Amino acid sequence: MLIGIDLGTSTCKAVAVAETGEVVAKSSRDYPMINLRQGWAEQDPAKWWQATDAVISALTAQLPRHGQEVDGIGLCGQMHGLTALDTSGTPLRHAILWNDQRSAPQCDWITERAGGLDGLLRLTQNRMLPGFTGGKIIWLREHEPEVYARTARILNPKDYLRLRMTGNHVTDVSDASGTGLFDVANRSWSKQLLGLLDIDPALLPDVVESTEATGSIRPELAARWNIPEATLVFGGGGDAVIQTTAMGLVDPGPVGFTIGTAGIVAGGTASCPDNPDGRVQVSCGNAPGRWHIMGVSLAAGGAFQWFRDALAPAQPVSFERLIGLARDVAPGSEGLLFLPYLLGERSPHIAPDASATWIGLTPMHSVAHLTRSVLEGVLLNLREILEVCRRAGLECDRIVASGGATNEPLWLEMLADVLGHETVTVTGATDGGAYGAALTAGVGAGRWNSLEEALAGVVVERTFTPNPANTAVYDAVFARHRRLYEHLEPVFQDAATS
Ligand code: XUL
Repeated sequence: MLIGIDLGTSTCKAVAVAETGEVVAKSSRDYPMINLRQGWAEQDPAKWWQATDAVISALTAQLPRHGQEVDGIGLCGQMHGLTALDTSGTPLRHAILWNDQRSAPQCDWITERAGGLDGLLRLTQNRMLPGFTGGKIIWLREHEPEVYARTARILNPKDYLRLRMTGNHVTDVSDASGTGLFDVANRSWSKQLLGLLDIDPALLPDVVESTEATGSIRPELAARWNIPEATLVFGGGGDAVIQTTAMGLVDPGPVGFTIGTAGIVAGGTASCPDNPDGRVQVSCGNAPGRWHIMGVSLAAGGAFQWFRDALAPAQPVSFERLIGLARDVAPGSEGLLFLPYLLGERSPHIAPDASATWIGLTPMHSVAHLTRSVLEGVLLNLREILEVCRRAGLECDRIVASGGATNEPLWLEMLADVLGHETVTVTGATDGGAYGAALTAGVGAGRWNSLEEALAGVVVERTFTPNPANTAVYDAVFARHRRLYEHLEPVFQDAATS
Protein backbone atom coordinates (compact mmCIF):
# COMPACT_ATOMS: atom_id res chain seq x y z
CA MET A 1 0.00 0.00 0.00
CA LEU A 2 1.34 3.42 -0.97
CA ILE A 3 0.49 6.81 0.46
CA GLY A 4 0.47 9.96 -1.69
CA ILE A 5 0.24 13.36 0.02
CA ASP A 6 -0.66 16.58 -1.79
CA LEU A 7 0.09 19.77 0.18
CA GLY A 8 -2.19 22.09 -1.83
CA THR A 9 -2.81 25.80 -1.46
CA SER A 10 -5.93 25.39 0.66
CA THR A 11 -6.03 21.67 1.52
CA CYS A 12 -3.73 18.81 2.43
CA LYS A 13 -5.03 15.65 0.84
CA ALA A 14 -3.76 12.09 1.14
CA VAL A 15 -4.69 8.93 -0.74
CA ALA A 16 -3.82 5.27 -0.15
CA VAL A 17 -3.18 3.38 -3.38
CA ALA A 18 -3.17 -0.43 -3.62
CA GLU A 19 -0.83 -2.49 -5.83
CA THR A 20 -3.60 -2.61 -8.43
CA GLY A 21 -3.32 1.19 -8.79
CA GLU A 22 -6.72 1.60 -7.14
CA VAL A 23 -7.34 4.39 -4.60
CA VAL A 24 -8.66 2.63 -1.48
CA ALA A 25 -8.81 5.46 1.08
CA LYS A 26 -8.70 9.28 1.17
CA SER A 27 -8.49 12.00 3.75
CA SER A 28 -8.13 15.78 3.65
CA ARG A 29 -7.86 18.85 5.89
CA ASP A 30 -7.93 22.60 5.08
CA TYR A 31 -5.72 25.45 6.32
CA PRO A 32 -6.00 29.21 5.86
CA MET A 33 -4.15 31.62 3.57
CA ILE A 34 -2.68 34.76 5.14
CA ASN A 35 -3.01 37.89 2.96
CA LEU A 36 -1.31 40.72 4.88
CA ARG A 37 -1.37 43.07 1.89
CA GLN A 38 -2.76 43.19 -1.64
CA GLY A 39 -0.62 40.85 -3.76
CA TRP A 40 0.90 39.00 -0.80
CA ALA A 41 0.08 35.37 0.02
CA GLU A 42 1.59 33.48 2.96
CA GLN A 43 0.93 30.38 5.04
CA ASP A 44 2.07 29.08 8.41
CA PRO A 45 4.16 25.90 7.91
CA ALA A 46 3.02 24.73 11.36
CA LYS A 47 -0.53 24.54 9.97
CA TRP A 48 0.71 22.44 7.03
CA TRP A 49 2.26 20.01 9.45
CA GLN A 50 -0.81 19.83 11.74
CA ALA A 51 -3.00 19.12 8.70
CA THR A 52 -0.61 16.46 7.36
CA ASP A 53 -0.40 14.73 10.73
CA ALA A 54 -4.22 14.64 11.02
CA VAL A 55 -4.68 13.51 7.41
CA ILE A 56 -2.25 10.58 7.66
CA SER A 57 -3.67 9.41 10.99
CA ALA A 58 -7.19 9.51 9.51
CA LEU A 59 -6.00 7.71 6.37
CA THR A 60 -4.21 4.82 8.06
CA ALA A 61 -7.21 4.34 10.39
CA GLN A 62 -9.29 3.49 7.28
CA LEU A 63 -6.91 0.77 6.04
CA PRO A 64 -7.57 -2.94 6.73
CA ARG A 65 -4.31 -3.32 8.72
CA HIS A 66 -4.54 0.25 10.09
CA GLY A 67 -1.32 1.36 8.39
CA GLN A 68 0.89 -1.71 8.87
CA GLU A 69 0.56 -2.46 5.13
CA VAL A 70 2.15 0.88 4.04
CA ASP A 71 5.35 0.44 1.99
CA GLY A 72 6.14 3.94 0.85
CA ILE A 73 5.13 7.61 0.96
CA GLY A 74 5.31 10.06 -1.96
CA LEU A 75 5.01 13.85 -1.61
CA CYS A 76 3.47 16.45 -3.89
CA GLY A 77 2.73 20.08 -3.18
CA GLN A 78 2.12 23.64 -4.26
CA MET A 79 5.21 24.80 -6.14
CA HIS A 80 7.49 27.84 -5.88
CA GLY A 81 6.89 28.64 -2.15
CA LEU A 82 9.72 29.84 0.10
CA THR A 83 10.08 28.23 3.54
CA ALA A 84 13.09 29.77 5.33
CA LEU A 85 14.45 27.65 8.19
CA ASP A 86 17.01 28.17 10.95
CA THR A 87 19.75 25.67 11.82
CA SER A 88 17.31 23.57 13.86
CA GLY A 89 14.81 23.37 10.94
CA THR A 90 12.35 25.80 12.55
CA PRO A 91 10.58 28.20 10.13
CA LEU A 92 11.82 31.76 10.66
CA ARG A 93 8.67 33.37 9.22
CA HIS A 94 5.53 32.36 7.37
CA ALA A 95 6.13 30.74 3.98
CA ILE A 96 5.74 33.03 0.95
CA LEU A 97 3.56 31.26 -1.64
CA TRP A 98 3.46 30.73 -5.43
CA ASN A 99 0.67 33.28 -5.92
CA ASP A 100 2.49 36.07 -4.04
CA GLN A 101 3.44 38.90 -6.41
CA ARG A 102 5.78 40.97 -4.19
CA SER A 103 9.05 39.97 -5.83
CA ALA A 104 8.57 41.43 -9.35
CA PRO A 105 11.44 44.00 -8.91
CA GLN A 106 13.76 41.27 -7.62
CA CYS A 107 12.91 39.10 -10.66
CA ASP A 108 13.93 41.99 -12.93
CA TRP A 109 17.20 42.33 -11.00
CA ILE A 110 17.91 38.60 -11.31
CA THR A 111 17.29 38.74 -15.06
CA GLU A 112 19.70 41.66 -15.37
CA ARG A 113 22.38 39.84 -13.32
CA ALA A 114 22.03 36.82 -15.61
CA GLY A 115 22.77 39.01 -18.65
CA GLY A 116 19.16 39.60 -19.69
CA LEU A 117 16.38 37.18 -20.58
CA ASP A 118 18.51 35.23 -23.08
CA GLY A 119 21.26 34.77 -20.53
CA LEU A 120 18.80 33.59 -17.89
CA LEU A 121 17.11 31.17 -20.30
CA ARG A 122 20.51 29.69 -21.16
CA LEU A 123 21.16 28.99 -17.46
CA THR A 124 17.74 27.74 -16.27
CA GLN A 125 15.53 27.43 -19.40
CA ASN A 126 12.94 29.54 -17.54
CA ARG A 127 12.05 33.18 -17.05
CA MET A 128 12.16 34.27 -13.37
CA LEU A 129 8.41 34.70 -12.86
CA PRO A 130 7.32 36.65 -9.76
CA GLY A 131 5.73 33.45 -8.39
CA PHE A 132 9.08 31.60 -8.44
CA THR A 133 11.23 30.98 -5.36
CA GLY A 134 14.36 32.76 -6.65
CA GLY A 135 12.83 36.26 -6.54
CA LYS A 136 11.47 35.60 -3.05
CA ILE A 137 14.94 34.71 -1.75
CA ILE A 138 16.28 38.06 -2.98
CA TRP A 139 13.21 39.85 -1.54
CA LEU A 140 13.95 38.28 1.85
CA ARG A 141 17.59 39.35 1.66
CA GLU A 142 16.61 42.94 0.81
CA HIS A 143 13.58 43.43 3.03
CA GLU A 144 14.19 41.19 6.04
CA PRO A 145 18.01 41.01 6.24
CA GLU A 146 17.93 39.84 9.87
CA VAL A 147 15.77 36.84 8.88
CA TYR A 148 17.95 36.13 5.85
CA ALA A 149 21.07 36.20 8.04
CA ARG A 150 19.55 33.50 10.28
CA THR A 151 18.36 31.37 7.33
CA ALA A 152 20.30 28.09 7.23
CA ARG A 153 18.08 26.26 4.72
CA ILE A 154 15.39 27.01 2.16
CA LEU A 155 12.71 24.48 1.18
CA ASN A 156 9.66 24.32 -1.06
CA PRO A 157 6.42 23.56 0.83
CA LYS A 158 6.18 19.77 0.34
CA ASP A 159 9.88 19.42 1.23
CA TYR A 160 9.22 21.02 4.60
CA LEU A 161 6.92 18.03 5.27
CA ARG A 162 9.76 15.74 4.18
CA LEU A 163 12.12 17.43 6.65
CA ARG A 164 9.60 16.88 9.47
CA MET A 165 9.16 13.25 8.38
CA THR A 166 12.77 12.22 7.72
CA GLY A 167 15.08 14.95 9.03
CA ASN A 168 16.53 15.40 5.51
CA HIS A 169 16.69 18.52 3.31
CA VAL A 170 15.77 17.15 -0.11
CA THR A 171 13.64 18.24 -3.06
CA ASP A 172 12.87 16.56 -6.38
CA VAL A 173 13.80 17.70 -9.88
CA SER A 174 10.31 18.93 -10.85
CA ASP A 175 9.85 21.18 -7.80
CA ALA A 176 13.46 22.38 -8.06
CA SER A 177 12.69 23.45 -11.66
CA GLY A 178 10.06 25.89 -10.33
CA THR A 179 12.56 27.77 -8.17
CA GLY A 180 14.03 29.45 -11.27
CA LEU A 181 17.51 28.58 -9.92
CA PHE A 182 17.69 25.12 -11.45
CA ASP A 183 19.47 24.11 -14.64
CA VAL A 184 16.50 22.14 -15.98
CA ALA A 185 18.41 20.75 -18.98
CA ASN A 186 21.11 19.23 -16.72
CA ARG A 187 18.80 18.38 -13.79
CA SER A 188 20.98 20.19 -11.19
CA TRP A 189 21.20 23.58 -9.43
CA SER A 190 22.63 26.30 -11.66
CA LYS A 191 25.85 26.98 -9.75
CA GLN A 192 26.54 29.76 -12.24
CA LEU A 193 23.29 31.61 -11.52
CA LEU A 194 23.67 31.09 -7.75
CA GLY A 195 27.14 32.65 -8.03
CA LEU A 196 25.85 35.64 -10.01
CA LEU A 197 23.14 36.21 -7.39
CA ASP A 198 25.47 35.57 -4.45
CA ILE A 199 23.17 32.87 -3.05
CA ASP A 200 25.05 30.27 -1.01
CA PRO A 201 24.33 26.83 -2.59
CA ALA A 202 24.39 25.36 0.93
CA LEU A 203 21.02 27.06 1.56
CA LEU A 204 19.38 24.82 -1.04
CA PRO A 205 18.31 21.20 -0.57
CA ASP A 206 19.80 18.13 -2.25
CA VAL A 207 17.92 17.12 -5.39
CA VAL A 208 16.71 13.64 -6.39
CA GLU A 209 14.62 12.19 -9.22
CA SER A 210 10.92 11.89 -8.31
CA THR A 211 11.09 8.12 -7.81
CA GLU A 212 14.19 8.11 -5.59
CA ALA A 213 14.14 7.48 -1.83
CA THR A 214 14.89 10.53 0.33
CA GLY A 215 15.04 8.96 3.80
CA SER A 216 13.02 6.88 6.23
CA ILE A 217 10.27 8.09 8.50
CA ARG A 218 11.30 9.07 12.04
CA PRO A 219 10.55 6.26 14.54
CA GLU A 220 8.18 8.41 16.63
CA LEU A 221 6.08 9.21 13.54
CA ALA A 222 6.01 5.58 12.43
CA ALA A 223 4.57 4.73 15.86
CA ARG A 224 2.13 7.66 15.79
CA TRP A 225 0.77 6.83 12.31
CA ASN A 226 0.95 3.07 12.89
CA ILE A 227 3.08 2.51 9.79
CA PRO A 228 6.11 0.18 9.61
CA GLU A 229 9.36 1.50 11.06
CA ALA A 230 11.75 2.86 8.45
CA THR A 231 8.98 3.39 5.84
CA LEU A 232 10.69 5.27 3.02
CA VAL A 233 9.64 8.71 1.78
CA PHE A 234 10.20 9.22 -1.96
CA GLY A 235 10.91 12.33 -4.05
CA GLY A 236 7.44 12.98 -5.55
CA GLY A 237 6.94 16.25 -7.40
CA GLY A 238 5.61 19.80 -7.76
CA ASP A 239 1.81 19.65 -8.07
CA ALA A 240 1.39 21.15 -11.53
CA VAL A 241 3.91 18.69 -12.97
CA ILE A 242 2.91 15.54 -11.11
CA GLN A 243 -0.77 16.07 -11.73
CA THR A 244 -0.02 15.85 -15.46
CA THR A 245 1.93 12.66 -14.73
CA ALA A 246 -1.07 11.28 -12.82
CA MET A 247 -3.15 11.67 -15.98
CA GLY A 248 -0.78 9.21 -17.65
CA LEU A 249 1.07 11.94 -19.54
CA VAL A 250 4.79 11.29 -19.28
CA ASP A 251 5.76 10.64 -22.90
CA PRO A 252 5.33 13.15 -25.74
CA GLY A 253 1.95 13.13 -27.53
CA PRO A 254 -1.00 13.63 -25.20
CA VAL A 255 -1.62 17.07 -23.68
CA GLY A 256 -3.33 17.65 -20.33
CA PHE A 257 -5.83 20.44 -19.73
CA THR A 258 -6.40 20.85 -16.00
CA ILE A 259 -9.24 23.23 -15.20
CA GLY A 260 -9.16 23.95 -11.49
CA THR A 261 -8.97 27.41 -9.93
CA ALA A 262 -6.08 27.95 -12.33
CA GLY A 263 -5.89 26.39 -15.81
CA ILE A 264 -2.87 24.31 -16.79
CA VAL A 265 -1.98 23.13 -20.29
CA ALA A 266 0.92 20.67 -20.10
CA GLY A 267 2.60 17.61 -21.48
CA GLY A 268 5.80 15.57 -21.53
CA THR A 269 8.82 15.89 -23.82
CA ALA A 270 11.68 13.48 -24.51
CA SER A 271 14.40 16.16 -24.31
CA CYS A 272 14.68 19.51 -22.55
CA PRO A 273 12.56 21.91 -24.63
CA ASP A 274 13.84 25.19 -26.00
CA ASN A 275 11.97 28.04 -24.41
CA PRO A 276 13.29 30.76 -26.74
CA ASP A 277 11.05 33.61 -25.56
CA GLY A 278 10.49 32.23 -22.04
CA ARG A 279 6.74 32.12 -22.50
CA VAL A 280 6.23 28.63 -21.07
CA GLN A 281 7.35 26.96 -17.86
CA VAL A 282 9.86 24.19 -18.46
CA SER A 283 10.46 21.52 -15.78
CA CYS A 284 12.13 18.20 -15.38
CA GLY A 285 9.51 15.46 -15.66
CA ASN A 286 8.78 12.96 -12.91
CA ALA A 287 10.26 10.11 -14.96
CA PRO A 288 14.04 10.18 -15.41
CA GLY A 289 14.97 11.39 -18.92
CA ARG A 290 11.63 13.18 -19.40
CA TRP A 291 10.81 16.89 -19.33
CA HIS A 292 7.57 18.84 -19.04
CA ILE A 293 6.22 22.00 -20.70
CA MET A 294 3.34 23.95 -19.24
CA GLY A 295 1.46 27.20 -19.52
CA VAL A 296 -0.51 28.33 -16.47
CA SER A 297 -3.53 30.62 -16.64
CA LEU A 298 -4.21 32.15 -13.24
CA ALA A 299 -8.02 32.30 -13.43
CA ALA A 300 -9.86 29.42 -15.12
CA GLY A 301 -12.44 27.75 -12.85
CA GLY A 302 -11.59 30.69 -10.56
CA ALA A 303 -13.09 33.13 -13.11
CA PHE A 304 -16.35 31.17 -13.12
CA GLN A 305 -16.34 31.10 -9.32
CA TRP A 306 -15.77 34.87 -9.21
CA PHE A 307 -18.64 35.41 -11.67
CA ARG A 308 -21.00 33.24 -9.60
CA ASP A 309 -20.08 35.03 -6.36
CA ALA A 310 -20.19 38.53 -7.89
CA LEU A 311 -23.61 37.96 -9.44
CA ALA A 312 -25.54 37.60 -6.20
CA PRO A 313 -23.21 37.71 -3.19
CA ALA A 314 -26.05 37.51 -0.66
CA GLN A 315 -27.67 34.49 -2.26
CA PRO A 316 -25.18 32.75 -4.56
CA VAL A 317 -26.76 31.01 -7.55
CA SER A 318 -25.70 27.37 -7.88
CA PHE A 319 -23.08 26.42 -10.49
CA GLU A 320 -25.58 23.90 -11.89
CA ARG A 321 -28.16 26.63 -12.48
CA LEU A 322 -25.60 28.83 -14.28
CA ILE A 323 -24.39 25.89 -16.39
CA GLY A 324 -28.04 25.25 -17.33
CA LEU A 325 -28.37 28.88 -18.49
CA ALA A 326 -25.11 28.71 -20.47
CA ARG A 327 -26.25 25.53 -22.22
CA ASP A 328 -29.20 27.39 -23.77
CA VAL A 329 -26.97 30.02 -25.45
CA ALA A 330 -25.48 29.32 -28.91
CA PRO A 331 -21.67 28.89 -29.21
CA GLY A 332 -20.03 32.31 -29.46
CA SER A 333 -22.45 33.89 -26.92
CA GLU A 334 -23.94 36.03 -29.72
CA GLY A 335 -20.87 38.20 -30.10
CA LEU A 336 -19.98 38.57 -26.42
CA LEU A 337 -16.30 37.95 -25.57
CA PHE A 338 -14.69 37.64 -22.13
CA LEU A 339 -10.97 37.82 -21.30
CA PRO A 340 -10.38 36.04 -17.95
CA TYR A 341 -7.41 38.07 -16.64
CA LEU A 342 -8.89 38.77 -13.19
CA LEU A 343 -5.52 38.18 -11.52
CA GLY A 344 -3.34 39.46 -14.33
CA GLU A 345 -1.93 36.59 -16.39
CA ARG A 346 1.06 34.23 -16.63
CA SER A 347 0.19 32.49 -19.91
CA PRO A 348 -0.52 32.85 -22.88
CA HIS A 349 0.65 36.40 -22.09
CA ILE A 350 3.08 37.36 -19.36
CA ALA A 351 0.82 40.18 -18.28
CA PRO A 352 0.72 40.87 -14.54
CA ASP A 353 -1.07 44.17 -15.27
CA ALA A 354 -3.86 42.76 -17.44
CA SER A 355 -7.41 42.67 -16.08
CA ALA A 356 -10.60 40.86 -17.03
CA THR A 357 -12.80 42.37 -19.72
CA TRP A 358 -16.08 41.87 -21.54
CA ILE A 359 -16.47 43.24 -25.03
CA GLY A 360 -19.49 43.20 -27.29
CA LEU A 361 -22.18 43.77 -24.63
CA THR A 362 -25.56 44.88 -25.97
CA PRO A 363 -29.06 45.06 -24.39
CA MET A 364 -29.89 41.72 -25.98
CA HIS A 365 -27.36 39.92 -23.78
CA SER A 366 -28.63 38.26 -20.60
CA VAL A 367 -27.02 36.59 -17.59
CA ALA A 368 -27.07 33.41 -19.66
CA HIS A 369 -24.83 35.06 -22.30
CA LEU A 370 -22.53 36.47 -19.63
CA THR A 371 -22.20 33.00 -18.13
CA ARG A 372 -21.46 31.25 -21.39
CA SER A 373 -18.98 33.94 -22.41
CA VAL A 374 -17.04 33.41 -19.14
CA LEU A 375 -16.72 29.66 -19.84
CA GLU A 376 -15.78 30.34 -23.47
CA GLY A 377 -13.25 33.03 -22.55
CA VAL A 378 -11.46 30.62 -20.18
CA LEU A 379 -11.35 27.87 -22.83
CA LEU A 380 -10.25 30.16 -25.69
CA ASN A 381 -7.45 31.34 -23.42
CA LEU A 382 -6.40 27.70 -22.86
CA ARG A 383 -6.44 27.13 -26.64
CA GLU A 384 -4.07 30.07 -26.98
CA ILE A 385 -1.82 28.58 -24.28
CA LEU A 386 -1.73 25.32 -26.25
CA GLU A 387 -0.44 27.28 -29.27
CA VAL A 388 2.29 28.86 -27.13
CA CYS A 389 3.28 25.43 -25.77
CA ARG A 390 3.32 23.92 -29.27
CA ARG A 391 5.66 26.67 -30.43
CA ALA A 392 7.95 25.63 -27.56
CA GLY A 393 7.96 22.04 -28.83
CA LEU A 394 4.96 20.38 -27.15
CA GLU A 395 3.49 17.64 -29.33
CA CYS A 396 -0.29 17.21 -29.27
CA ASP A 397 -2.07 14.16 -30.60
CA ARG A 398 -4.57 13.64 -27.78
CA ILE A 399 -6.36 15.86 -25.26
CA VAL A 400 -6.87 14.67 -21.68
CA ALA A 401 -8.86 16.89 -19.30
CA SER A 402 -8.90 16.97 -15.49
CA GLY A 403 -9.64 19.30 -12.59
CA GLY A 404 -12.75 20.17 -10.57
CA ALA A 405 -14.46 21.86 -13.53
CA THR A 406 -14.46 18.61 -15.49
CA ASN A 407 -17.16 17.18 -13.22
CA GLU A 408 -19.47 19.34 -15.34
CA PRO A 409 -19.91 17.86 -18.85
CA LEU A 410 -20.62 21.26 -20.49
CA TRP A 411 -17.03 22.40 -19.83
CA LEU A 412 -15.75 19.24 -21.54
CA GLU A 413 -18.13 19.43 -24.50
CA MET A 414 -17.10 23.06 -25.00
CA LEU A 415 -13.39 22.24 -24.63
CA ALA A 416 -13.67 19.60 -27.39
CA ASP A 417 -15.52 22.13 -29.60
CA VAL A 418 -13.11 25.02 -28.89
CA LEU A 419 -10.08 22.83 -29.66
CA GLY A 420 -11.78 20.91 -32.49
CA HIS A 421 -10.26 17.81 -30.94
CA GLU A 422 -11.61 14.72 -29.19
CA THR A 423 -11.20 15.19 -25.44
CA VAL A 424 -11.12 12.44 -22.81
CA THR A 425 -11.06 12.19 -19.04
CA VAL A 426 -9.05 9.41 -17.35
CA THR A 427 -9.22 7.53 -14.05
CA GLY A 428 -6.04 8.79 -12.33
CA ALA A 429 -6.98 12.44 -12.81
CA THR A 430 -9.53 12.65 -9.98
CA ASP A 431 -6.93 12.47 -7.24
CA GLY A 432 -4.36 14.42 -9.25
CA GLY A 433 -1.07 15.12 -7.56
CA ALA A 434 -1.66 12.86 -4.52
CA TYR A 435 -2.20 9.91 -6.86
CA GLY A 436 0.91 10.75 -8.90
CA ALA A 437 2.95 11.05 -5.68
CA ALA A 438 1.79 7.58 -4.56
CA LEU A 439 2.86 6.17 -7.94
CA THR A 440 6.35 7.70 -7.71
CA ALA A 441 6.65 6.04 -4.28
CA GLY A 442 5.46 2.74 -5.78
CA VAL A 443 8.12 2.85 -8.48
CA GLY A 444 10.78 3.74 -5.89
CA ALA A 445 9.63 0.93 -3.61
CA GLY A 446 9.84 -1.56 -6.49
CA ARG A 447 6.08 -2.17 -6.93
CA TRP A 448 6.40 -1.14 -10.56
CA ASN A 449 9.50 -1.04 -12.77
CA SER A 450 8.82 2.44 -14.14
CA LEU A 451 6.30 5.28 -13.97
CA GLU A 452 5.09 4.23 -17.41
CA GLU A 453 4.29 0.76 -16.01
CA ALA A 454 2.58 2.27 -12.93
CA LEU A 455 0.45 4.45 -15.22
CA ALA A 456 -0.77 1.51 -17.31
CA GLY A 457 -3.76 1.33 -14.93
CA VAL A 458 -4.89 4.86 -15.91
CA VAL A 459 -7.70 4.33 -18.41
CA VAL A 460 -10.13 6.53 -20.35
CA GLU A 461 -13.37 7.25 -18.49
CA ARG A 462 -15.36 9.59 -20.76
CA THR A 463 -14.89 10.75 -24.36
CA PHE A 464 -16.17 14.04 -25.84
CA THR A 465 -16.23 14.41 -29.63
CA PRO A 466 -16.24 17.90 -31.15
CA ASN A 467 -19.23 19.13 -33.10
CA PRO A 468 -17.76 20.45 -36.42
CA ALA A 469 -20.36 23.24 -36.73
CA ASN A 470 -19.51 24.51 -33.23
CA THR A 471 -15.78 24.25 -33.93
CA ALA A 472 -16.22 26.40 -37.05
CA VAL A 473 -17.90 29.09 -34.92
CA TYR A 474 -15.14 28.88 -32.31
CA ASP A 475 -12.39 29.15 -34.94
CA ALA A 476 -13.83 32.54 -35.91
CA VAL A 477 -14.35 33.61 -32.28
CA PHE A 478 -10.78 32.54 -31.46
CA ALA A 479 -9.40 34.91 -34.12
CA ARG A 480 -11.33 37.79 -32.48
CA HIS A 481 -10.24 36.69 -28.99
CA ARG A 482 -6.55 36.90 -29.97
CA ARG A 483 -6.90 40.32 -31.58
CA LEU A 484 -8.70 41.63 -28.51
CA TYR A 485 -5.68 41.12 -26.25
CA GLU A 486 -3.38 42.79 -28.79
CA HIS A 487 -5.67 45.85 -28.86
CA LEU A 488 -6.04 46.00 -25.09
CA GLU A 489 -2.40 45.51 -24.11
CA PRO A 490 -1.59 49.26 -24.20
CA VAL A 491 -4.79 49.99 -22.27
CA PHE A 492 -3.75 47.59 -19.50
CA GLN A 493 -0.31 49.20 -19.38
CA ASP A 494 -1.82 52.71 -19.18
CA ALA A 495 -4.06 51.63 -16.34
CA ALA A 496 -1.09 50.17 -14.44
CA THR A 497 0.99 53.34 -14.69
CA SER A 498 -1.77 55.89 -14.02
C1 XUL B 1 2.50 26.05 -11.05
C2 XUL B 1 1.77 26.91 -10.08
C3 XUL B 1 0.63 26.34 -9.31
C4 XUL B 1 1.08 26.05 -7.91
C5 XUL B 1 -0.07 25.84 -6.95
O1 XUL B 1 3.49 26.73 -11.71
O2 XUL B 1 2.08 28.04 -9.87
O3 XUL B 1 0.10 25.21 -9.91
O4 XUL B 1 1.97 24.99 -7.92
O5 XUL B 1 -0.85 24.78 -7.17
